[in-house]
Amino acid sequence: MSSVADEVARLRGTKSSTFRDLLTHPPFARLMAAQTVSSLGDWIGFIAVAALVKRLGGNVGAYAVAGVMMARMLPSILFGPLAGALVDRFDRKRIMIVADLSRAGLYASMPFLGSIWLIFLFSFVIESLSLLWTPARDASLPNLVPRRQLANANSLSLVTTYGALPFSASIFALVAGISSLLPYFKTHQESFALWIDGVSFLFSAFMVSRIPIRTPGSLTVGRFDMSRVWKDVVEGMRFLRENSLASAMTLGIVSAFSAVGAVLGLYIIFATDTLHAEPAGIGVLVTAFGLGMGVGMALVNKLVQAVERDVAFVWSLIGAAISLLAVAAMPNLSLAALLTVALGFFCGAAWVSGYVLLQENVADEYRGRTFGSITVLSRLGIFLSLAAFPALAGVIGPHRVRIGHQPIDLSGTRIALWVAGLGVILAAGMTRRGLSRFRVSRPKPLALVPKLKRPPTTGVFVAFEGVEGSGKGTQIRLAREWLESRGVDVLVTREPGGTELGERLREMLLSHETGHIEPRTEALLFAASRSQHVASVIRPALAEGKVVICDRYIDSSLAYQGWARGLGEQDVLTLNVWATQGLFPDLVILLHLEPEEGLLRSLEEPDRIEMESGDFHAKVSDAYLKIAEEHPERFVVIDASEAPEKVHEHVVEALRRVLKDREDDGDEG
Ligand code: TYD
Repeated sequence: MSSVADEVARLRGTKSSTFRDLLTHPPFARLMAAQTVSSLGDWIGFIAVAALVKRLGGNVGAYAVAGVMMARMLPSILFGPLAGALVDRFDRKRIMIVADLSRAGLYASMPFLGSIWLIFLFSFVIESLSLLWTPARDASLPNLVPRRQLANANSLSLVTTYGALPFSASIFALVAGISSLLPYFKTHQESFALWIDGVSFLFSAFMVSRIPIRTPGSLTVGRFDMSRVWKDVVEGMRFLRENSLASAMTLGIVSAFSAVGAVLGLYIIFATDTLHAEPAGIGVLVTAFGLGMGVGMALVNKLVQAVERDVAFVWSLIGAAISLLAVAAMPNLSLAALLTVALGFFCGAAWVSGYVLLQENVADEYRGRTFGSITVLSRLGIFLSLAAFPALAGVIGPHRVRIGHQPIDLSGTRIALWVAGLGVILAAGMTRRGLSRFRVSRPKPLALVPKLKRPPTTGVFVAFEGVEGSGKGTQIRLAREWLESRGVDVLVTREPGGTELGERLREMLLSHETGHIEPRTEALLFAASRSQHVASVIRPALAEGKVVICDRYIDSSLAYQGWARGLGEQDVLTLNVWATQGLFPDLVILLHLEPEEGLLRSLEEPDRIEMESGDFHAKVSDAYLKIAEEHPERFVVIDASEAPEKVHEHVVEALRRVLKDREDDGDEG
């Protein structure tokens, strides 16, 4: 189904952005290289550390492995919400390089520690450093890639972080194999892997040092406000409780993560003690899991074309639970590995469908906090399971039962995994109930889908945009004179206004006597004026082949009502596409000026909107630039602080181009 946004993108001729553009963009390519190599290294290191403490731990190896995992979860529970705020206070590039170098050093020295407690400590510090690296990257990304590429950049970033998982496990298996042939490493299989990990972080530091990451000056002086961070967290939690969809999802997601904690805590012991596999066997299981997860993540989007996303989410959870129950019953590594692929598949499918379900259904203003709170809760779930499940397995201990003559190994590990699987089934059932209640109460989306009308192909439609006092009036007059001197038939008009009804609306909108107007009312009135204007003035003039110059148009509504009033660009866009039946300008000339300067220039008495705060006008000015950046095919941005004649030259240049394009089109048609 093509949404209004798709239609508009088509109408406006916005080209979709490709992954290829991104990967050939050097700063981004370097960042991805740094991240791919270091996450590969980190996954290898993760397995190696687990194997190391397992060996050092001897007969309490089970607890030692869980201990490492807990040490790695703890930082995000303790500092998770703060890390982002911290990153805004320091030089991001330096943070990333220092974190990389320190992690390299810590990993490389780990083989010499000999004490489990020191390894716990090192793991804790390593994870704390990662906790700084990641938000530093997330915060830098918008400065490294164009805005319209952000979604692509984020998915690539996710893929390089988690996509490395299956390969790292095979490499770990390989590394373990190679090191068993070498003299020193024969007895210290993990050291080799840990050093490889260290080197991967050195590489990352080197790459990051070559990326032009800038830290906005204003951010470094911002005060670090703890109470604000705390308020956000509390508000996020309240939202999770009160929103029926989010609370149903939270249960499912947190239980799934707790099961992941159980698997992380138990799998290594399960592989080595219950299934009697070599250390390389751990790698096989992790590879199997990663492989399944990759396939699950890739296929779930195809799957949801057939079933609803919430159904897909619940069934993925149940599928994962059943796979886990089955894995825990397997007698040997090969069968366990085979079923682990299925486990990975359902986990990947659950993750993606859950994530997208939340993204689609949680309002933008709550999204950050919602994801933040779910992350903290999930980590807490993993953390508790890491402690609880190995403990449960230990308490139950090894058992053997006989069914007939067949001795069956019924270790505590198997039983603990079964408990985890049953827990997920229970949670999936409750999530399903919660979601079905939500489905009943789900409001039908507004069917504000307009019947779009093609613009007339003869005339040319030019809009002038800019903050108050950016000189639109003067430039429009000069542009008209220039066009008329070339014999072009020009119609100059303005918004709000341009029709009798429109001028009356204008009076209401701008007069102080009107008093307060609700933002939505305001957006509707501007759109009402525009609708009348387009149907009775602009489209007919374009059909006659005129050049129509309009003082302000849709982009004013996007900037003023969408951004500065906070109604949201998408909603205001939808409303206006409906009102105009999809008529967009062929050219938008944005006269860019710092808002303070514009307000100073203005000599007349300020109208209702001009009276807004400086903050409001700064938002408008920023919004214009954002919108222009997203639509380079329509927008021309001109620095309006230059002399009027100079600005006019740039305007003429833009007009020439759009007139020429139209002639060329005409020749072809
Ligand atoms: P206008 O006379 O165009 O302002 P200026 O004197 O700066 O050229 O007045 C229109 C005012 O209405 C201006 O403050 C911008 C605002 N406006 C919106 O908020 N939304 C809209 O869609 C339009 C067309 C204008």
